[in-house]
Amino acid sequence: MTEIEAIYARHSVRNYKSDWIEDEKVELIHQKIEELNRESRLHLQYIEDAGKTYNKLLNRTSGLNSAPSVIACVGKESDPDLDEKVGYYGEKLVLYAQTLGLNTCWAGIFSRKKIPVEVDPGEKIVISIAIGYGENQGQNHRSKPIDQISQATGERPEWFERGIEMALLAPTAMNQQSFMIKLCEDGSVEFTDKGGFFSKVNLGIVKCHFEIGSGRKIEWTQTRIRRMKRSVGRS
Ligand SMILES: Cc1cc2nc3c(=O)[nH]c(=O)nc-3n(C[C@H](O)[C@H](O)[C@H](O)COP(=O)(O)O)c2cc1C
Repeated sequence: MTEIEAIYARHSVRNYKSDWIEDEKVELIHQKIEELNRESRLHLQYIEDAGKTYNKLLNRTSGLNSAPSVIACVGKESDPDLDEKVGYYGEKLVLYAQTLGLNTCWAGIFSRKKIPVEVDPGEKIVISIAIGYGENQGQNHRSKPIDQISQATGERPEWFERGIEMALLAPTAMNQQSFMIKLCEDGSVEFTDKGGFFSKVNLGIVKCHFEIGSGRKIEWTQTRIRRMKRSVGRS
């Protein structure tokens, strides 16, 4: 399964079988996490036994039934791009899990006291991702019209349209889709976060999908001012 196929197949799954993920797949997840952590300097962690991360009281509000395992998204508090990076790299992992036949659900609502996670000094846990074998494969979410989430000054090249299509399939907290993707005259692509619950994490996820769809690499810039403007070039 390619990343594009994984994007089409992925939906949030909130009911899981109690089966543990097989050792060979756990090993592959660990390897992928190692690769992503090396690149991003995040501290993503796979936790085999989610324990009471998704407890009953929270379940009632979030609709997420307890999952067997969990991915904890941890990183340095001092990193100004922490939330966005968590979204971008966490979604890479989510799509990888999908290629392994697993299901996931990003979960902002979880028990921070009960999650058996390692948080080093100077780090914080941003969000969790439930993972396991779903009772179902989830369902398509409703999407905003293309003109509400994208703009282009001139013609819309095919690569841009493909990026937008994949961005609309991205998971966002409460399905807000509160972002704008603009194709500028100089050919660069500007991503704007329009706010809301976990908006920076959402934006990182959207960038991950756009990049896969467009086939063009988004350059991460260091400066805060240009944070929303990424130059886009062929990968
Ligand atoms: C940052 C983030 C936080 C989320 N938090 C929760 C949550 O706490 N509980 C839940 O059931 N779903 C949560 N979701 C899943 C969204 O509701 C879901 O992605 C959205 O409705 C779109 O549906 P889809 O993922 O099936 O495409 C979250 C998603 C994101 C991206």
